Amino acid sequence: MTDTTPATESSEKPAGLENLLSEDRRFPPSPEFAAQANAHGDLYAWAAADRPSFWADQARELLTWSTPFTQTLDWSKAPFATWFADGKLNAAYNAVDRHVEEGRGDRVALHFEGEGGDSRSLTYADLQREVSKAANAFTALGVGTGDRVAIYMPLVPEAVVTMLACARIGAPHSVVFGGFSAEALASRIVDAEAKLVVTADGGYRRGAPSALKPAVDEALEKGTPSVEHVLVVRRTEQDVAWTEGRDVWWHDVVDSASDQHTPVELDAEHPLFILYTSGTTGKPKGIFHTTGGYLTQAAYTHRNVFDLKAESDVYWCTADIGWITGHTYVVYGPLVNGATQVIYEGTPDTPHRGRWWEIVQKYQVSILYTAPTAIRTCMKWGEEIPAQFDLSSLRVLGSVGEPINPEAWMWYRRVIGGDRTPVVDTWWQTETGAIMISPLPGVTAAKPGSAQVPLPGIAADVVDDEAHPVPDGGGGYLVLTEPWPSMLRGIWGDPERYKDTYWSRFPGLYFAGDGAKKDDDGDIWLLGRVDDVMNVSGHRLSTTEIESALVSHPWVAEAAVVGATDETTGQAVVAFVILRGGAGGADKSGDEVQTELRNHVAKEIGPIAKPRQILVVQELPKTRSGKIMRRLLRDVAEHRQVGDATTLADSSVMDLIAQGLSKPA
Ligand code: WTA
Repeated sequence: MTDTTPATESSEKPAGLENLLSEDRRFPPSPEFAAQANAHGDLYAWAAADRPSFWADQARELLTWSTPFTQTLDWSKAPFATWFADGKLNAAYNAVDRHVEEGRGDRVALHFEGEGGDSRSLTYADLQREVSKAANAFTALGVGTGDRVAIYMPLVPEAVVTMLACARIGAPHSVVFGGFSAEALASRIVDAEAKLVVTADGGYRRGAPSALKPAVDEALEKGTPSVEHVLVVRRTEQDVAWTEGRDVWWHDVVDSASDQHTPVELDAEHPLFILYTSGTTGKPKGIFHTTGGYLTQAAYTHRNVFDLKAESDVYWCTADIGWITGHTYVVYGPLVNGATQVIYEGTPDTPHRGRWWEIVQKYQVSILYTAPTAIRTCMKWGEEIPAQFDLSSLRVLGSVGEPINPEAWMWYRRVIGGDRTPVVDTWWQTETGAIMISPLPGVTAAKPGSAQVPLPGIAADVVDDEAHPVPDGGGGYLVLTEPWPSMLRGIWGDPERYKDTYWSRFPGLYFAGDGAKKDDDGDIWLLGRVDDVMNVSGHRLSTTEIESALVSHPWVAEAAVVGATDETTGQAVVAFVILRGGAGGADKSGDEVQTELRNHVAKEIGPIAKPRQILVVQELPKTRSGKIMRRLLRDVAEHRQVGDATTLADSSVMDLIAQGLSKPA
């Protein structure tokens, strides 16, 4: 194992992966499932024969174009791609209107379940009226084609309506997860120069209203000159501060707007959205996606990987719209495919730990897509909880966001899937826009813990340090070797950073940042990040960003952050800090320092970035060139024997840290 793991300074090797190599359980699809499946094995050969024309066929079949395209892929300005560039379409028309025009207006698009148990269902015809009204209201507020809109909302139908209304008028949206702080929101608004911010008074989290509008007010006080209006949905009826002239209630301007609106015809390469994600530096990257290629791959993967039958399935993806999974597999993929889906506002354990399974039973959910961290949490709570509900409607289960360990995979299939359902482990990223590597449920004999094969139309490989493909059985870095329709078109406002981040490590290949292994059958196993990005509960967090947040506190002189293996969340944030002498923190207890700094990180970035543990140390281990050796700190955080420390400038540092940690706080 060690000889094949990429040997970077910060290379990851999540615990428990050794046993992957002895994983030999196989779950071929049942003959009944295979016979009715959307995708067949011949797709692979068809796509490999002529990749661009395969995607062109998908684009024509799955989308409605107002002006058909004649061009497919243009890779002449690599790594900047265009797909279907002379075609025109509208994403909201594809997600909503065409279903109504084709007689599917009465089909439920969204079953909304509030955390407190309130519920609402919107048909495609309802959605068309709501999206049209919102589009008219946004236009009246001065938002035009090309202007950016920031969205900071709970998972309520208005959030989906807002995204689609933006798409309808060609205003790229930038959704900021509601768990991010005012600080994080402000920097994203500034970077995208958003003209409108759409928010809510609050949403329900863990049984109580949780305010959002105050964070918007605070963000705007930091100086966001581009913002003209803040549009506020009333959800929790909390008191909100109000800036006359700037703030507008949704029910005042959207409810009264006309429900007739003509979608704007847009180029296939018109930007659809920007979504910020953590990178290896402190500054989040605005990943941007365009329209035609993104929608093609969103619809194609949603249809084939989940075997969607739009007339009969009830689909539920548990992601929030603040993440890419919520963009592609809550909003665009399912709606373009005319699916009926569930969206749920709250947490899995409110008001009780069977809440998700109660929702599956209530709506007869047939396809469920969630994250390994959620599955492991449910395992911990015990299988007697899901056993109290009727889960027999489920027929396909999906996993995304981080490597799923074989035991969690097996539990998911057995306890949730009744030992019947295929489980698809789907690998992809914010940057890839849509699923890239995954079994096909009617075709692939699944292996617990492996994403296995690139989808038909996708080309991926595992390479060594010199960019040579590794043989079967070898390990290295995951790369994508051919452009794909839903690939990011760049980093908003920073084309150089796009080239550097993804295309410079292995010239001509897209470097995903993940370590991977090929087994003896050539199937791919993802091993986690090999850069300074952590994956906590399937959410990407940057070590550097949290370090910058820590050192912005007056007590802290220096900080180093690592992702330590955690049984439930995959990784957990562990921070090592050196306190500034005489700055106030030095005479506090370890607990007081920890509480103060954890809250500070929550304020700077958001509660999801709070370190699980903060350890006060006298020194940090550094190489002679001054680079922090996070690998050694991770050994400490994971209670392991500290590894090879010979490249340390001062080899006694690790002893000092170990001694310091054994002292009482
Ligand atoms: C990780 C989420 C293993 C990976 C869609 C990737 C996975 C990062 C899987 C992207 C999987 C996602 N198996 N690892 N099935 N899916 N990852 O941008 O490290 O939030 O690079 O996109 O999550 O996270 P992002």
